[in-house]
Amino acid sequence: MAYADYTSQGAVAVITLNNPPVNALRAGLRTAVADGLERSASEESIRAVVIVGSGNAFCGGADVGEFGLPAMSASPSLSDLLSLIENSPKPVVAAINGLALGGGLELAMACHYRVGAAAAPLGMPEVKLGLLPGAGGTQRLPRLVGVERALNMIVSGNPVSARDLAETELLDSIADGDLLPAAVAFAERVIASNLPLKKARDIRIDFPNAEAFLDFARGAIAPLAKNYPAPLKCVDAVEAAALKPFDEGMKTEGTLFIELLNTPESKALRHAFFAMRAAAKIPDVPSSTPLRSIRSVAVIGAGTMGGGIAMNFANAGIPVTVLETTQAALDKGLGTVKKNYESTLKKGRLTQDEFDKRLRQITGTLSYEDIKGADLVIEAVFEDMAVKKQVFEKLDEVAKSGAILASNTSTLDLNKIASFTRRPQDVIGLHFFSPANVSKLLEIVRGAKSGKDVVATSMAVSKQIKKVGVISGVCDGFIGNRMMNAYFRQMELLLDVGALPQQIDKAMEKFGFAMGPFRVSDLAGNDILWYIRKRLYVEYPDRVFSKTPDRICELGRFGQKTGAGWYDYKPGDRTPVPSELVNKIVLEESARLGIARRPVSDDEIVERALYSLINEGARILEEGIALRGSDIDVVYLTGYGFPDFRGGPLFYADTVGLPNILRAMRKFAKDYQPDAWKPARLLEQLASEGKTFASWGVQS
Ligand SMILES: NC(=O)c1ccc[n+]([C@@H]2O[C@H](COP(=O)([O-])OP(=O)(O)OC[C@H]3O[C@@H](n4cnc5c(N)ncnc54)[C@H](O)[C@@H]3O)[C@@H](O)[C@H]2O)c1
Repeated sequence: MAYADYTSQGAVAVITLNNPPVNALRAGLRTAVADGLERSASEESIRAVVIVGSGNAFCGGADVGEFGLPAMSASPSLSDLLSLIENSPKPVVAAINGLALGGGLELAMACHYRVGAAAAPLGMPEVKLGLLPGAGGTQRLPRLVGVERALNMIVSGNPVSARDLAETELLDSIADGDLLPAAVAFAERVIASNLPLKKARDIRIDFPNAEAFLDFARGAIAPLAKNYPAPLKCVDAVEAAALKPFDEGMKTEGTLFIELLNTPESKALRHAFFAMRAAAKIPDVPSSTPLRSIRSVAVIGAGTMGGGIAMNFANAGIPVTVLETTQAALDKGLGTVKKNYESTLKKGRLTQDEFDKRLRQITGTLSYEDIKGADLVIEAVFEDMAVKKQVFEKLDEVAKSGAILASNTSTLDLNKIASFTRRPQDVIGLHFFSPANVSKLLEIVRGAKSGKDVVATSMAVSKQIKKVGVISGVCDGFIGNRMMNAYFRQMELLLDVGALPQQIDKAMEKFGFAMGPFRVSDLAGNDILWYIRKRLYVEYPDRVFSKTPDRICELGRFGQKTGAGWYDYKPGDRTPVPSELVNKIVLEESARLGIARRPVSDDEIVERALYSLINEGARILEEGIALRGSDIDVVYLTGYGFPDFRGGPLFYADTVGLPNILRAMRKFAKDYQPDAWKPARLLEQLASEGKTFASWGVQS
């Protein structure tokens, strides 16, 4: 099928953008629209043109897959096409039948008239990829909706409905229902009344004190945008629209766009965008794999995780039954769920109606009889193999045939759990992250015998409950926690060498992490990490660990929940206050080890932290636990507060250069914990071949 269809209704030519799902402006589509315009100009009977999108979208914008590739500037470029539209001798009407984002909105703004469906979202999301609209968006939008409104849309990247912009010059008419007839009728009126070819570029911006306003905006945006160059460049571009003639403004926009395109931040954000899409692709599980239907869910255990997991399904309109061992545990768990929803209701982020609906979706039970019909059962009981065994044996007995049996285990061997049933093909790991109703990440742990349809259905479920699903193989800690264990161990060892917890946290937060490791540990519960370490001590007797975290735990300092951990906390206040006692313990431990403490720079902290993550990530990749390096990045971006403007640990590794990382690791290995710095084979191999993580493994 052609990228754009050309038809006519009387004197009106209709060009229909046809590149599902969002009619992205790839080179073929741009050419087809340009051909349509040329044809409309040459046909005498045609007196006006309507451009409309097929399906539910008008146009989702540039094809991000073309960014940085020759196809992006292949003739006609988007700018060429917009000039063609603007200079068409016959009036062009955009029929904005659905979303018009980025280049899609720029295309609409180059038309002479615009008719919009009331609910159509209109926006400029480029800033979210570290860019700005680069085809006149920053110059035409302020002319059509005013400087202030345009600035808000361009800097936030958030869409606004056509209804909310109805009073601006962006929209000449708003229509409900089928838009095309309304747009054709509008075009006929333009013809009948001989209306002029209105061009956004000709609108004069009259905004007194524009410079003062934009300076004020810069002051407000700068602290929020500190690691992101794009928002301030957006202000510069809008300033050019306000102060310069159109063509000069366009030049400024072009220069700023290219500058942003080459920033490491934009490259990282674009990588993250593609990485999220790639994560859903599983090479041996084609998209045609039949899915199992999930109409009802059961959750076993109403603890910290079970309640949050249940909320995800209730939010998606899927009924959930939560099973517990005692009425008291059930009441407690469901009480927490209710409290969570109440707090969202109070904040005005949930209507009373939605609140009631969601609560109605969740029912509690103490009997397996009530979960017999569930299509998906997710076990979230204690992290103890004996308890898991008991639960899975029972599930095997009662769950209906074809039900998916999932475990939320963080550390236990999923294959062993599957072996407790006579249907290991139905068993899979669905590893949610705390808080389970909020965290975006879902590790889908594929057991040796998990069925392909079970894997495909789990990926589909992750989308349905608005999570980002990433496939992981079975290993200790799966992708995320296995890397985190290496990272925490390294950060704790650094305490012995000379750093203090607050210094390490600050360095990592300056790098861009939402929270440094010791603040994370206080939030998650130091006892949980202690529990994991005790197991690691037994299973990996040769690994060197710092003793300091155990000493902190022996004092009952489990973190925020006990009012003290790596930091002190005032009652009812989560602000971490550096603890004199903890710092004293850190110094004592160095003395006990006979280590002469030395200054540790912030750079060294960041290098040790990142390289320990990267090295473990490389092992995970070489063992095939992760399908591709970008999946590891997605895990860290969505589940561990890794800064998106750095792209994820393995993307970051590629930007640093693998030989540089190896060199630093060899230097670190001279410390007293050389075992922590044994390079992964894959890291050495790629470094010696001059390759990157991005070049390795499954490519799509
Ligand atoms: N807490 C986290 O941050 C986190 C994150 C990811 C995964 N996990 C995993 O999720 C699982 C649950 O962890 P949690 O933190 O919610 O634990 P939790 O102790 O808060 O809750 C466990 C619940 O399971 C119930 N339970 C125990 N045995 C049961 C049985 N036989 N039948 C039904 N209910 C039973 C308990 O009464 C309790 O309410 C564990 O496997 C854990 O490793 C936890």
